[in-house]
Amino acid sequence: MDARLNFLDHPQAEPPVSQLPVSQPVVRLRSFVRSFGETTVLHGLDLDIQPGEFVALLGRSGSGKTTLLRTLAGLDTAPGQDVRVPTSRAVVFQDARLLPWKKVWRNVALGLKGADIRDRAEAALREVGLGHRLDAWPLTLSGGEAQRVALARALVREPRLLLLDEPFAALDALTRLRMHDLVLDLWRAHQPAVLMVTHDVDEAIALADRVLVLDSGRIAAQERITIARGERGDMTQPLRHKLLDILGGAAASSGVIPFPHGGHA
Ligand SMILES: Nc1ncnc2c1ncn2[C@@H]1O[C@H](COP(=O)(O)OP(=O)(O)O)[C@@H](O)[C@H]1O
Ligand SMILES: [Mg+2]
Repeated sequence: MDARLNFLDHPQAEPPVSQLPVSQPVVRLRSFVRSFGETTVLHGLDLDIQPGEFVALLGRSGSGKTTLLRTLAGLDTAPGQDVRVPTSRAVVFQDARLLPWKKVWRNVALGLKGADIRDRAEAALREVGLGHRLDAWPLTLSGGEAQRVALARALVREPRLLLLDEPFAALDALTRLRMHDLVLDLWRAHQPAVLMVTHDVDEAIALADRVLVLDSGRIAAQERITIARGERGDMTQPLRHKLLDILGGAAASSGVIPFPHGGHA
């Protein structure tokens, strides 16, 4: 696998090779198995994610996406298994999970230490376009704003691995498109490796370097996209249809896998 392919549409973002041992993925999973009681959710999964790579994970509801993400986040213990993740990692879920009794900047600064935490929170909030809402209460934010705060809270820690579990699924279509631009800007600026779970084939194709499809606990398909992000409209139609076929055809008209959100931890 050539990690350099991942930077085709923004070559300026590629770190010097000396800092980027291509043979050293930030995420490495080998023969990973996760069962709940009698039910095996993930069957011997292998996964590598390279530094700075943007990977989208598609799959039906209940296919094990959140289970995989929680494992990588360290929220699900995996004793005796071969899981390598960086200690520097952050997660954003579908709901922003802000503490309503803490002002927005304090939510972003949660867990940070030092005299400059308000400055750091402010810088992160400016980056997501919320520099003016520092002292707002979470309940006064729109859904899109709350997700921006969640992104700021993740990025203020400069994670090497950013895990996103259907972060835009609850937003309206226009807000979601704005969030796509924002997440790409943030990714380019901070260069974390990203694993983004989504139900939306078009979202996966718009954002990712590589798209994985999880089915019955296995990676059923894997597609690398080398077309520049700005040019992914018509040229990615064959890929779109292929992914929708793998996911179960019926959704081909909408691009969204028609399953209710379920199984969220
Ligand atoms: N803590 C748990 N205990 C028992 N079963 C679980 C637990 N977490 C997830 N599962 C089951 O594992 C399967 C995969 O769930 P999940 O990873 O949340 O799927 P997805 O995110 O792809 O919708 C589902 O059948 C779900 O019910
Ligand atoms: Mg899930």
